Amino acid sequence: MDATCSSFCPNRTISLSTCSHNQNQLASVHSLLRFSASASSVYSRSRLVCDSNCRNLTMSLKASVTPIIDQSTSSSAAAVPTIVEVDLGNRSYPIYIGSGLLNQPELLQRHVHGKQVLVVTNTTIAPLYLDKTIWALTDGNPNVKVESVILPDGEQYKDMETLMKVFDKAIESRMDRRCTFVALGGGVIGDMCGYAAASFLRGVNFIQIPTTVMAQVDSSVGGKTGINHRLGKNLIGAFYQPQCVLVDSDTLKTLPDRELASGLAEVIKYGLIRDAEFFEWQEKNMHALLAR
Ligand SMILES: NC(=O)c1ccc[n+]([C@@H]2O[C@H](COP(=O)([O-])OP(=O)(O)OC[C@H]3O[C@@H](n4cnc5c(N)ncnc54)[C@H](O)[C@@H]3O)[C@@H](O)[C@H]2O)c1
Repeated sequence: MDATCSSFCPNRTISLSTCSHNQNQLASVHSLLRFSASASSVYSRSRLVCDSNCRNLTMSLKASVTPIIDQSTSSSAAAVPTIVEVDLGNRSYPIYIGSGLLNQPELLQRHVHGKQVLVVTNTTIAPLYLDKTIWALTDGNPNVKVESVILPDGEQYKDMETLMKVFDKAIESRMDRRCTFVALGGGVIGDMCGYAAASFLRGVNFIQIPTTVMAQVDSSVGGKTGINHRLGKNLIGAFYQPQCVLVDSDTLKTLPDRELASGLAEVIKYGLIRDAEFFEWQEKNMHALLAR
């Protein structure tokens, strides 16, 4: 763990000065997400590297941030995403972070292989973002067929019985090996959909669209997927990397205050554990962050 921490700061390419340039409230959330996803991806990656080969823990820790250049919808500056590249060799993937990203179909579509997509979401998120997500997957791309499965909402449904509903839908819809599963929701949906994607036909493509702060800064990054067993949380699962993570900060507008605060508490931990300067920035901007 010491090696992780000492490698973290020199390699971080999102600077705090970038964060503090933005004075408006939404920009503060963007800055926070950009920083946190970067921090989380570096940290998660270090865990993966350590799991598979502890000898080279410090050698390859790196997260880089590059601006996207091929925008087809350049209606506003806020629509330009930041990209955090999670460098995992042939399992590398980008995290897109920004406002209005679900209005940019090309971001998702470039990571869909094959012609079948299964969106996994829940009863709370579906009325808010399912139509928009299906539009983003199909706009200008009529050959893609999108199915959805809407699970009950809650940690208590992160179990084998509910997971079977995902497999039922995939099998009934005759999804093939080239299909893509899309997780649309918080950490519960991300964990379940990821595990379903890891298991269905021994592994199919997987995209994360996290909609809580917790999921955007933590659970969607790092490849941990799974479900609970009645004897304990997250006891059944797999490491499985997504094709991409799309963080549309606009989804946080509907997030209940309690969930926002819970996610921010997670981010405060990053500052406390690893970065005093980031912690101070959070202290100064907490009112703006809570106001979104
Ligand atoms: N895989 C990992 O590395 C990892 C890391 C941390 C936590 N987790 C898991 O994540 C889960 C917790 O995730 P969570 O905190 O996101 O909780 P959650 O997924 O239960 O979401 C919290 C609530 O907010 C609702 N919601 C989500 N997005 C919304 C939106 N944009 N607008 C309105 N409502 C919205 C959900 O429907 C739910 O009711 C736990 O199961 C935990 O084990 C996984």
